[in-house]
Amino acid sequence: MLLNASGCLDALVAPEIARQLDAFVTKTVTPLPREGNSPIRIAETAHGMLNSIGLANPGRERFLTDQLPRLRELGIPLWVSVGGFCAQDYAETCAALDGIAAIELNLSCPNVDEAADSAAEIVAACRATTSLPLYAKLSAAHPDVAVVATAVAAAGADGLSLINTLRGLALDPDTLKPILARSSGGLSGPSLKPVALATVHACYAATQLPIVGMGGIVTAQDVVEFVACGALHVALGTVLFADPHAPSRIREELAVVPMDDRYAAAHSSEKSLEFTAKALA
Ligand SMILES: Cc1cc2nc3c(=O)[nH]c(=O)nc-3n(C[C@H](O)[C@H](O)[C@H](O)COP(=O)(O)O)c2cc1C
Repeated sequence: MLLNASGCLDALVAPEIARQLDAFVTKTVTPLPREGNSPIRIAETAHGMLNSIGLANPGRERFLTDQLPRLRELGIPLWVSVGGFCAQDYAETCAALDGIAAIELNLSCPNVDEAADSAAEIVAACRATTSLPLYAKLSAAHPDVAVVATAVAAAGADGLSLINTLRGLALDPDTLKPILARSSGGLSGPSLKPVALATVHACYAATQLPIVGMGGIVTAQDVVEFVACGALHVALGTVLFADPHAPSRIREELAVVPMDDRYAAAHSSEKSLEFTAKALA
């Protein structure tokens, strides 16, 4: 499946782009509304972008009563990204959701400890409240993300979304001061891809769970590489800002990617080969 990465597409503003995807993933919803950080919140870097949006969102109540009904009208399968500051925050939002395709637990929220134990505690609390598919979204900032992946799998996650942004800093070349108002922000785009591939590879080896791979995907070749590392699905993030039609472009590119020895040699396992065949189908 081809998805968008959370926070990188507003389906209510650009429904025609969202309809090019197999499912739409919402911006992370937190229990209370968040205005996000003050500007400047976006900075360009050589091979990617930095953002410090700060999880701006209308909060659970308004999401459920206003946004979700309007998103349902689009007729696209929906994944809701859920965030919070403790296990109960996440579990209460999960309990309020039904009639959607999946829940993505954003376990890389600010102030949420991403230690394996707390990630597993959040997943277990959500598992107890919902039978919807639960994807745990992890960042690669943890020294051994495969340990976190194994812990969330044991706690009941049905899949993994890999990876969230990594902390980075960009300076104004003249003033040598940070460009972003909050100094550092989340790095996304092509510079993230090697880290994302390594994370998908390690977490697939550790769990064999279905994985949504993301981080710097721009072309069909990137998709094939994620699939070769163990991803079953892929999500497009930063590329959508520069090329909103990337979903249909990448589908067209995938349709003509030859399934030749070059790809076979790159595949790490028979399972990946199977996934690649599916992705290219
Ligand atoms: C502007 C922006 C906003 C984002 N907001 C969220 C968010 O609300 N929740 C989340 O889980 N990830 C969020 N992300 C991270 C993306 O979903 C994705 O994991 C990351 O950008 C890596 O993919 P990419 O390199 O293709 O952009 C955001 C990324 C960007 C650039």
